[in-house]
Amino acid sequence: MIDHLLSRRAALLAAATVAAWAGSPARALLLAADSIASPAWLDALLARMTVEEKAGQLTLMAAAWAGSAATALNPPSGNASFDQQLAETRSGRLTGVFNGNGAEMAKRMQDVAVHQSRLKIPLIFAADVIHGFRTIFPVPLGEAASFEPDLAERTARAAAVEASAAGIDWTFAPMVDIARDARWGRGIEGAGEDILLGRRFAAARVRGFQGRSLTDDDSLMACAKHFAAYGAAESGLDYSSVDVSERTLREVYLPPFKSALDAGAVSVMAAFNEISGIPATANEWLLRGVLRDEWKFGGLVVSDYTGDEELIAHGFAADAREATRLAFLAGVDMSMQSGFYIRHLPDLVAKGDVPMARLDEAVRRVLQVKARLGLFDDPFRRIHPERERTRIRTRDSLALARESARRSVVMLRNQADLLPLPKSGRSIALIGPFADGQHDLNGTWCVYGDDRQACDLATGIQEKLGGSARLSVTQGCGVETSLAGGIEAAVAAARAADIVLLAIGESASMSGEAQARTSVTLPAPQQALAEAVAATGKPVVVLLRNGRAMALEGAVRDAPAILVTWFLGSETGRAVADILFGDYSPSGRLPVSFPIESGQEPYHYDHKPTGRPNPPGDAPQDYKAHFRGILNRALYPFGHGLTYGRIHYSDLSADPRMDWDGPLSVSATIANQGDRSVEEVVQLYIRDRAASITRPVRELKDFRKIRLAPRSSQVVRFTLRRSDLLFVGRALEPVVEPGTFDLWIAPSSEAEGVHGAFDLVR
Ligand code: NOJ
Repeated sequence: MIDHLLSRRAALLAAATVAAWAGSPARALLLAADSIASPAWLDALLARMTVEEKAGQLTLMAAAWAGSAATALNPPSGNASFDQQLAETRSGRLTGVFNGNGAEMAKRMQDVAVHQSRLKIPLIFAADVIHGFRTIFPVPLGEAASFEPDLAERTARAAAVEASAAGIDWTFAPMVDIARDARWGRGIEGAGEDILLGRRFAAARVRGFQGRSLTDDDSLMACAKHFAAYGAAESGLDYSSVDVSERTLREVYLPPFKSALDAGAVSVMAAFNEISGIPATANEWLLRGVLRDEWKFGGLVVSDYTGDEELIAHGFAADAREATRLAFLAGVDMSMQSGFYIRHLPDLVAKGDVPMARLDEAVRRVLQVKARLGLFDDPFRRIHPERERTRIRTRDSLALARESARRSVVMLRNQADLLPLPKSGRSIALIGPFADGQHDLNGTWCVYGDDRQACDLATGIQEKLGGSARLSVTQGCGVETSLAGGIEAAVAAARAADIVLLAIGESASMSGEAQARTSVTLPAPQQALAEAVAATGKPVVVLLRNGRAMALEGAVRDAPAILVTWFLGSETGRAVADILFGDYSPSGRLPVSFPIESGQEPYHYDHKPTGRPNPPGDAPQDYKAHFRGILNRALYPFGHGLTYGRIHYSDLSADPRMDWDGPLSVSATIANQGDRSVEEVVQLYIRDRAASITRPVRELKDFRKIRLAPRSSQVVRFTLRRSDLLFVGRALEPVVEPGTFDLWIAPSSEAEGVHGAFDLVR
């Protein structure tokens, strides 16, 4: 009965809301317009707005609602109360909030915006929905290891469906920064070191978040971030300076952004870093020249969290007023969290330091994205307390979490076919700080997920093996600390078992924002644990948990089997168990090269040859490019990953000539000589032997994940076109030059696979 009364009341309230909203001047103007893209309704609305209301539309703040996650993942800034934010909404001084907490909060704020504010312009609700909302998928770097952009599109879609029910309109994702330095902690949020992989995942994630139409109530507006070159931070130190040539910027760091925008991303976030002396947040060349003039981007540019304020600390702006002017004139339309725009834009406009036309341009963009999100039709379209409860962690989304998790695992090594393990007859010692416990499962940037709801390794393995499993679980040490008696207990457990699963690596807080590391090795207590356990002579399977490429050492590097498991999210334990016990053959490939030693960083496979490359082979030669004592190559390169099959590459077929206008078809036969069904990621690389600008030793040009039944083979065909051979030429324009190109179809960036060459002839 009470439920019935409540729902009746809710229905009446909803009807009243719609009626009041129907009287909104903003909505009336929009309805009278031919299309949301037509400037007429915007001009009419702009004409009614005060300068302060305009600045309000450009001001986004962290949600102050109790329990909001906003500042948990950002440094504290400002101390607004929820009541204050309601007052700001009422007076039109706020465009929206981010990282708030749910439909109830959004409902209360939106009610004020559309009933009590003068122009009744709806608020927009943003959030860092990075790798899931309540169902958590692998961290983006892990998911990139699947080499399946379609999978990323599906998980982004699922995240959007969950988040949109909780009132969220806009996600600050995808992060599309190329990351070539493992010391940088934020590589975990992107797709790794490679440009092509980065482009494909950027586009896929945008498609997934935005869905079929932005107006759909289960779509989120995507935001390509951080524009640009944030991953090129000097020595991998987060927020540090970037000094990069325009060529490298255009060739390496900008392409994933272009792909995200081509896929329809409607917003872009300016990066924290400077680029060669000019902070991205005040970089007119970047934000206007490249983004608007060259790429014709018509969407919205938002600052990063206090990015405009930080122009002062950069030593680029003398004070808050100047920081506002510089960021705004350079092209940052919306200010996140500093409050600078609402505080200083009205005066800047009044004094003629900022033209009204620029103010109107930015406000127009904000209103346009709100319209495209359908907020002028129904400001409550994504605010659904009931769906918020029921549309999360469904059977389907959890199944997708398990699927994406197991597709993200990379098997680096599997000596003597140690894996997969039999499901019975062996006793197993699961050892290490990540063996069990509801921690460090989801990984960083998980604003709304809960580790307590995720499946840990012990649970996943126990479930797989059933009650009779002979499984012992021993912690051995903490992530960065030793435990009294821990190693002794671990050694005893190893001795008593047939096989050891060693669950070691980084905690969730060791990667992500502000988590740069000087050395990408295992913390010493864990290395000591690994050495002691290996000394028992028991076979060891390393289950590495990590948010970056790591330099494996000693007993960990030499363990007979190694699985890279990143942070896999809600279904971690079940997904890893699927692989360990052979229900799924590993199919992931490294999206970042694992160096031999940390000091090689930034290491990426597509480096330049230098004038003194070390000749092929294992011996470092004097006066050739290598570090003292080791070759400058990866321990496990980009693209590497094993399966439970026996994979053989043969029969490269490629015409030795590629005509200027004609495509070149290349193929190879990929055979699985093993007796298990597997998936293989077949990769196509080229090298331009001589060009007017030096070219990398290899560049990935295409890849395909294929399924191979036991003892079967497949001819895999790729098509290369002249556009695949473009590079940024001397005039900083894309060029192609005739000449000879090497070609590999191979299982990784440093494997030979099958190798040929062709001439591009004009
Ligand atoms: C700072 C981060 O750099 C950015 O990626 C994130 O979206 C914002 N904080 C908002 O939380």
